[in-house]
Amino acid sequence: MKVCALAAFGPQEPLRPFEYEVGPLEAHQCLIKVQTCGICHSDIHCMDNDWEMTRYPMVPGHEAIGTVAEVGPQVTHLQVGDRVGIGWQSGACLHCLDCLRGNQQMCEVDNRATILQQHGGFGDYMTVDSRFAFPIPDGLSSETAGPLLCGGITVYSGFLHAGMTGGQEIGVIGIGGLGHLAVQFAAKLGNRVTVFTSSPDKAEFAASLGAAEAVVIGRDGTAPEKPSRRLDIILDTVAASKDYNAYLNMLDSDGVYNLVGVPTDDIPLSVFAFQDKRRRIMGSPIGSPAEIREMLSLCAEKEILPLIETFPFERANEALQRVRDNKVRYRAVLTME
Ligand SMILES: NC(=O)c1ccc[n+]([C@@H]2O[C@H](COP(=O)([O-])OP(=O)(O)OC[C@H]3O[C@@H](n4cnc5c(N)ncnc54)[C@H](OP(=O)(O)O)[C@@H]3O)[C@@H](O)[C@H]2O)c1
Ligand SMILES: [Zn+2]
Ligand SMILES: [Zn+2]
Repeated sequence: MKVCALAAFGPQEPLRPFEYEVGPLEAHQCLIKVQTCGICHSDIHCMDNDWEMTRYPMVPGHEAIGTVAEVGPQVTHLQVGDRVGIGWQSGACLHCLDCLRGNQQMCEVDNRATILQQHGGFGDYMTVDSRFAFPIPDGLSSETAGPLLCGGITVYSGFLHAGMTGGQEIGVIGIGGLGHLAVQFAAKLGNRVTVFTSSPDKAEFAASLGAAEAVVIGRDGTAPEKPSRRLDIILDTVAASKDYNAYLNMLDSDGVYNLVGVPTDDIPLSVFAFQDKRRRIMGSPIGSPAEIREMLSLCAEKEILPLIETFPFERANEALQRVRDNKVRYRAVLTME
């Protein structure tokens, strides 16, 4: 069958219509009729080939929600008509040590990304390995569930692995798609949250997301003002370079700085910013399939939901430009029907 999609054909270019053929499904694959798809900043990094991994034409979209239209011969856990979500990862080897440990997102053997090793969700249909298609709880609408599949899981897993439990002081840098979900996870799981934002209107709105304190930062990498309390964990969702040493010095002893944004510049660090107080610096990618399932139920239960701006599919380029201009409050979502 033929999929009608939108694709990037080169860096900084608007998307253009693109059709591609889907052959017979592989044993574990399923075909998804796409309903909605969020726009993550990683779509833009890949459209622009920032990470030098893009093959054009490239169909973005890795926060897709849709219904199963057809299943491959060995798919047993999904049926035609089920509503599922597809995130950044669309396949893994499932037998390497990382996969066996439940860290499929760190598979080194056959780690497939929805928009790099195949075509993504900016189309009427897409295919995915069924083991990376996750049933969506009934309580979540397709528009709001989409951004959880990449933005949501990245910050949720990032907090888990940084040691967030509850009763801690949490900092979030950058209140975009990822950051505004991070504030909600941290606050609703019982922490006190400080946001660092370069947008004054977001500082004013931060309390509505659950933050206790907001610090307005510059966009030129100058040292931010210190918040009123030491922080246990800082989650950095910003792709731009910044004064990392100043942020590290805001951490309490044994504090953790987790970088989930993807700056392309090297990171200059002073040993005194982390050694004396036994602070740690880490990064983390998305999350595992098990964490995705856990996160989806948690979001339905605690009403951790993205604030979205919806755009009909035909207006994808307008939505992408708003993301590039940092105008979206707080996640753009395309609707296909
Ligand atoms: N680790 C992973 O697996 C993973 C998964 C998904 C996404 N990501 C990455 O995470 C990053 C954020 O993605 P997103 O979808 O949340 O993007 P987004 O919605 O565009 O938000 C990024 C935010 O960063 C802040 N910002 C942008 N430019 C800045 C600058 N020059 N200086 C200071 N702050 C700036 C803005 O927040 P304020 O207006 O509040 O300042 C902006 O809203 C991207 O690099 C993306 O590729 C990583
Ligand atoms: Zn593997
Ligand atoms: Zn993403």
